[in-house]
Amino acid sequence: MWDWPNLTEGIQSALAPAGPHAGWVAHLSWLIFIGGGLILLIVVVMAALAIFAPERFRRAIGQRRTVIIGGVAFPFITLTALLIYGLSGSSALVTFGPPALRVEVVGEQWWWRVHYLDAEGETRLTTANEIRIPTGMPIEFVLKSADVIHSFWVPSLAGKLDMIPGRINSYRFAADKPGVYRGQCAEYCGEQHALMAFYVVAMEQEEFELWYADQVQPAPEPALAQLEQGRELFLANGCGACHTIRGTPADGLIGPDLTHVGGRMSLAAGVLPNNVGTLAGWISSAQHLKPENKMPSFGNLRGTELRAIAAYLENLK
Ligand code: CUA
Repeated sequence: MWDWPNLTEGIQSALAPAGPHAGWVAHLSWLIFIGGGLILLIVVVMAALAIFAPERFRRAIGQRRTVIIGGVAFPFITLTALLIYGLSGSSALVTFGPPALRVEVVGEQWWWRVHYLDAEGETRLTTANEIRIPTGMPIEFVLKSADVIHSFWVPSLAGKLDMIPGRINSYRFAADKPGVYRGQCAEYCGEQHALMAFYVVAMEQEEFELWYADQVQPAPEPALAQLEQGRELFLANGCGACHTIRGTPADGLIGPDLTHVGGRMSLAAGVLPNNVGTLAGWISSAQHLKPENKMPSFGNLRGTELRAIAAYLENLK
C-alpha cells in the first residue's frame, strides 16, 4: 500500500520549518495554497452553473457586472493585498539581525567551501560541506561561487539564494532548536548537481563554542603506528596538493580542507556517510562514485595502504 509522504516532517522540508525565516515561507505557502484552492473551487462551481443551471439563472449571472466584479475587481484586490502582506513580512527577514556569526559559503563543482569570518570579514576557520551554527540567533550567510551558478537552500531553515560568480549575495536566518538540517544545491550546476548536498547542524551556544574552539586547533598528531603510516601515505601520494590538513605540510586549496574531516557527518558533499569504509572507497573510486569531480580515483593504492589513510583521516576529529 502506498503511503502519502509526510511533507511536514523531516530534515529537508520547507513545510517543516525550524526557524523564523522558513516559518514565514511555510506560512505564505499555506496561505497561497489554501486561498488558491478556494478560488479554484469558486471557478469550478461557476463553470458548472454556466453549463448545467436553468436558463433563467444563467441569464441572471451571465452579465457584464459578473465579469467586472469576478474578473477585474476580485483579482485586483486579492493580489494587491497578498503583495502588500508578502512584502511586509519579507522585509522583516531582510532586517533580521544583527548577526551573531558570519559564515561565508562558496559553491564549487560539486561541494561547499565554508569559511567562518571575524568582524573584519577575515577567515578564521575553513571547513567544508557541513555548517555548524548556534541556535536562536541570526546567522549571516555570505554566498559566493567559484565556477558556475549554484543555489544555497536549506528548506527547513530558509528560502533559496543563488550563488553567482563575481557576485556576493547574503542573507540571515536562524535555527530555533538544535538539530540537523539538510541542504541541497537548487540550481543545475553540471553533471553532479544532484550530489551537491550539505548539512547545517544547529547546536546550543556553549556546545557550539566548544566545537569551534576544537576546530581552530591544528589536526591531532597520530597516536598509533597505523595512523602515522596513513599520514605518511597521504603526503607521499600527493593528496596535500589539493587538500589542507593544518599542522602538516598538506596545504592544497583545490579540494575541501580535511583538518577535522573525521568529525563531519558525510563525505563528498552529502553523498556517503563518513566512516573508514566509505573513506577508503571514496579515495580509491572517487570518479566512479561522482564522475567528473576534481578528485582522481587512487586505484593504485593497496588495501592496507587505503585502510591506513582512511583510518588516519577518520581520526582527524
Ligand atoms: Cu551546485 Cu547545483
